[in-house]
Amino acid sequence: MSIKIAAAVLAGGQGTRMGAMMPKQFLPIADVPILVHTLKAFLVCPSIEAVFVVTPAEWIEKTRLMLEDYYPSDARILVIPGGSSRSESLMQPIRWLKEQGQLDEETILVSHDAVRPFVTADIIERNITATKKTGAAMTVVPATDTIVVSEDGASVSKVPDRRHMFQMQTPQTFYAASFARIYESLDPQKQAAVTDASGVLLEGKVSMALVEGRRENIKITYPEDLDYASWLSGHAI
Ligand code: CTP
Repeated sequence: MSIKIAAAVLAGGQGTRMGAMMPKQFLPIADVPILVHTLKAFLVCPSIEAVFVVTPAEWIEKTRLMLEDYYPSDARILVIPGGSSRSESLMQPIRWLKEQGQLDEETILVSHDAVRPFVTADIIERNITATKKTGAAMTVVPATDTIVVSEDGASVSKVPDRRHMFQMQTPQTFYAASFARIYESLDPQKQAAVTDASGVLLEGKVSMALVEGRRENIKITYPEDLDYASWLSGHAI
């Protein structure tokens, strides 16, 4: 039987910019690993039938034990190995579903960075609704800073109107089988150049709706982000 809606929580990175002793998705906020915080919003969405957690291969067993502690016997959680890039990690749950005969044209995948623990069930549900209507959904917030384009990295070539600029967050949601076909059709350089799902979907000319995220849905990248995240977690949001 095919799965209708699955989540892919991407925890396959090494967190080099954080410079901690372990990948940042396993660091604690208020004594609880970031990944555990992130999963909570997905597990309260009744329409999500499977939650893939993609981790570095050497973290699979530890992650399974950790999640069993916090979410005992939740059979929807599946921990699988990630890939060499974020895009390759994103492909892993799709390949898993295909191998298990659980992927069809209607299967929707809600992809999310494990290091964005302040996502909400409401944002996830609005992603799913927008994907059913439009074909794909990207979570964004309006840009607060003016964005400039520089072709050479040294001088300003363009100053786009800020009203048309948005900052991308996750979730990014799409039909998994169609996404995989587009990704597999790209040459290796292009596969390496796309940093997230929107780049792949754009190649396939898939319409993507904008879904309003929230400023608190930060991606924890640097040590100072951890301090802010700890503060946010203590302020009922
Ligand atoms: N990610 C992944 N597989 C990879 C690389 C990244 O699943 N091969 C995940 C990360 O674990 C993270 C998310 O993608 O949850 C966003 O990536 P980023 O913030 O760049 O994480 P890292 O690659 O871990 O960080 P860094 O670039 O500092 O090493």
